[in-house]
Amino acid sequence: MGFFLAMVTDMSLRRPRSEVNFLEASTLIPGGVNSPVRAFKGLGVDPLVVEKGEGAIIEDVDGNCYIDYCNSWGALIHGHNAENIVEAAQTQLAKGSSFGITTAVETEIARRIIGHIPSIDMLRFVSSGTEATMSAIRLARAATGKSTIVKFEGHYHGHSDCLLIKAGSGVAQLPESSSLGVPPAFVQYTRCLPFNDFDACRKLLQENHDIAAVLLEPVTANMGVVVPKPGFLEMLREETSKRGILLIFDEVVTGFRLGLHGAQGLFNIDPDLTCLGKIIGGGFPAAAYGGKKQWMELVAPLGGVYQAGTLSGFPVAMAAGNAALAALERPGFYEELQEKTERLAQPIQQYIHEQALPVALQKIGSMFTLYFGVNKVETYGDLKGLDVQAFRLFFAFMLEQGIYIPPSQVEAWFISSAHSEKEIDRTAKAVVGFLREYYQTTDSIHETMNLSKD
Ligand SMILES: Cc1ncc(COP(=O)(O)O)c(C=O)c1O
Repeated sequence: MGFFLAMVTDMSLRRPRSEVNFLEASTLIPGGVNSPVRAFKGLGVDPLVVEKGEGAIIEDVDGNCYIDYCNSWGALIHGHNAENIVEAAQTQLAKGSSFGITTAVETEIARRIIGHIPSIDMLRFVSSGTEATMSAIRLARAATGKSTIVKFEGHYHGHSDCLLIKAGSGVAQLPESSSLGVPPAFVQYTRCLPFNDFDACRKLLQENHDIAAVLLEPVTANMGVVVPKPGFLEMLREETSKRGILLIFDEVVTGFRLGLHGAQGLFNIDPDLTCLGKIIGGGFPAAAYGGKKQWMELVAPLGGVYQAGTLSGFPVAMAAGNAALAALERPGFYEELQEKTERLAQPIQQYIHEQALPVALQKIGSMFTLYFGVNKVETYGDLKGLDVQAFRLFFAFMLEQGIYIPPSQVEAWFISSAHSEKEIDRTAKAVVGFLREYYQTTDSIHETMNLSKD
């Protein structure tokens, strides 16, 4: 039990600069962060202030190093400061940062993406995943002449008004509308269904004749890693095709993460529109939406669906993204990434299994989530059983071990090609060490720390 107490008393002493810096940030920026989950809310640990990153390691302003499994929320599939990406960005930057005029590098990366994702004939670059999904649903509404959008509980598609309903991840703790400041009229055309629920989907699609699009994360990252039940994506494709409804895959996380062809390649589904982000920017702000030519030709200036952006197709991001994608084409890249993920997951899974612990490890490709207090998560409702206290202790413990995991239990960990076997093994050992300690001594810990598990 020693490490739990040491951890709780030690932490703030070891990051004095982070503490001062974060306090100052908090007077100038709401919560000291530019995206809410970064604030470590409810975790009982002060947030880090990061100085730099190299490979799989990030270093805070106090000089503490951590193996990083957040990787800029999945954007950095090659880890931090990857040489080829930095070089591509610097070369582009030397020519000028942005022009607001078409550059050749935009065409180059567009060709590369279209070459890998057969459902995309044309695409439009934007600067964030939020813009990509927001624009895709505008396009779907224009294409179909209908208004209603169907999404799934726990799926996050950015923070545009009509998609902020039961949106998982950073808003998992908020009430139904997920945000203040969204008038009821703005969400009246959004319907939310349980993921993996065949009957509920079929019923709604049969009954509602105003549906423009079904939008989903084909593999969910924002309620932790939840894969679709066999046949679920196929059913959605079939039912939407029958009814002239557009199927939109939000592959902001899974695009180029689950292979060169994304989740749609893995599950062999042909969506009408696809949203991409994260990896395609090589660590810079870039995202895109694309799909069948017949739909994309509706986008201005070809068609009447207006969508624009001052820094859209930002050349430095395009060059970095293009270099990141080119590196993914190396034969064996995804296999190696998968092997690393297995190497990390296997000993943890084995321990959970041997000890019959109430812990679920769910994974696919190079993303995974560890859930405490449940044995399986298939729908958003399953998250009700999560042991929040266990995750609080786990997060603090991992940080003490020099391992940075996403600061929420309902997020995915991301393995990068920069993680070494040594780093992976150290992480697996730390996780198993925590599980051993927590589940063997949980009663005495709670007694000593006067904590409630409820
Ligand atoms: C699946 C998914 N879609 C959309 C978004 C929004 O992307 P952004 O944060 O770039 O606006 C996210 C962000 O994490 C995401 O995970």
